[in-house]
Amino acid sequence: MMRIDIISLLPKLLEGPFSDSILKRAQDSAKVEIYVHDLRQYGLGRHQQVDDYAYGGGAGMVMMIEPIEKCIKHLKSERVYDEVIYLSPDGEPLTQSIANGLSTQKNLVLLCGHYKGVDERVREHLVTREISIGDYVLSGGELAAAVLVDAVVRLLPGVLSDETSALTDSFQDGLLSPPIYTRPADFKGWKVPDILLSGHEEKIREWRFEQSEKRTRERRPDLLE
Ligand code: ADE
Repeated sequence: MMRIDIISLLPKLLEGPFSDSILKRAQDSAKVEIYVHDLRQYGLGRHQQVDDYAYGGGAGMVMMIEPIEKCIKHLKSERVYDEVIYLSPDGEPLTQSIANGLSTQKNLVLLCGHYKGVDERVREHLVTREISIGDYVLSGGELAAAVLVDAVVRLLPGVLSDETSALTDSFQDGLLSPPIYTRPADFKGWKVPDILLSGHEEKIREWRFEQSEKRTRERRPDLLE
C-alpha cells in the first residue's frame, strides 16, 4: 500500500478533498494511506512559532527550517521515504508522466509552503524534489498537494473501477481525449455522430483516434512536438 504524509500549516484545507469519491474509496479499500500533519505542532517555544522575518529584509514571512526538520525527522524515523516533495510555483511542472512515476513509489512526503515560502536550506537539504501544478501562484501548497495526490492515487492499481479507464485518459497516450456522448442520440436536433451508433468497432476506434489527433492539433499543438 502507498503512504502519503502531507505537512501543512492549514491541515483543515485538506480534509475535504480526501474524504469523498475516489480518494475516499482508495483509502477505504487500503490502496493508499494519507496522513496530514499540522506543522504548528512542531513549532518553536510557547507560541509554537513556525515562521519569521526574512534575513536581509523585505515583506513577507519565511517558514523556519527547525519545525520542518523536526517533522520530517519524526516521519523518517518510522519509515524510508522515496521522495520529499515541496509544492512550489518554481518546481518542475506537473505532468501525467510525473504522476505515473510517483504512482509506483511507496512512501511520499509532501511539504506545503505558505507566506513567502520556506527557508532555502529546507529546499537544499531536506527536499528531494519540487513540483509546481502550473504557472500561477496559490496562497499555499495545500491545494497543489491535493491536485498531486488526486493525479497519483487514481493511477494506483484497483482504484478506478474500470481498470482501463485511466489508460484512456487525456494525456495518457500524449493526446487529448476524443468527444464522448450518451443518450439521447438526438437532443432537439443536436445529434450524436452516426459512426458511434453504427456498431463498427474498428471504425469507431479509428474515428476516436482521428478526433483525438484533431483536437490535440487544434487545442494543444505543443503536445504533438
Ligand atoms: N504553491 C503556490 N503556488 C503553487 C503552484 N502553482 N504549484 C505548486 N505549489 C504552489
